[in-house]
Amino acid sequence: MAVERTLVIVKPDAFEKGATGKIIDRFLEEGLKLKALKMFKFTKEQAEGFYYVHKERPFFGELVEFMTSGPVVAMVLEGENAIKRVREIIGPTDSEEARKVAPNSLRALFGTDKGKNAVHASDSPESAQYEICYIFSKLEQF
Ligand code: RTP
Ligand code: MG
Repeated sequence: MAVERTLVIVKPDAFEKGATGKIIDRFLEEGLKLKALKMFKFTKEQAEGFYYVHKERPFFGELVEFMTSGPVVAMVLEGENAIKRVREIIGPTDSEEARKVAPNSLRALFGTDKGKNAVHASDSPESAQYEICYIFSKLEQF
């Protein structure tokens, strides 16, 4: 196993609920190390660029609207096998499904449905590389 870095975003719904601290704490409790952290609000263009892999999908407009609806908190987490481990901690995309199959996952605890699902996490080494560089400069990473 290799030490990896992955990009996590507390989405606008979870931020609005005041769940940011609990979400960060969960990752730290699971042994992941915080390597970068910031709060901001995506512009439409920035959100479209972040999720460009989905630009042909029917839900793209809805996704961009949601991700620009309020502030978010982004972070870089590091650890052994971090990309897969963090995806397991957040749970399946659909929060309703997450409550059935992974009730202790972050999407089960803090999300609503398939669209409003509380947390984003990189899904591969390639997406982690793209997303970390998209959000954080070298100077902001430790
Ligand atoms: P994410 O990229 O945010 O970590 O989520 P994911 O990998 O679990 O799911 P993905 O397929 O990459 O979808 C990205 C985000 O788009 C929204 N979505 N809405 N209404 C829908 O059918 C639908 N499907 C996806 C969700 O916010 C999802 O997290
Ligand atoms: Mg994804």
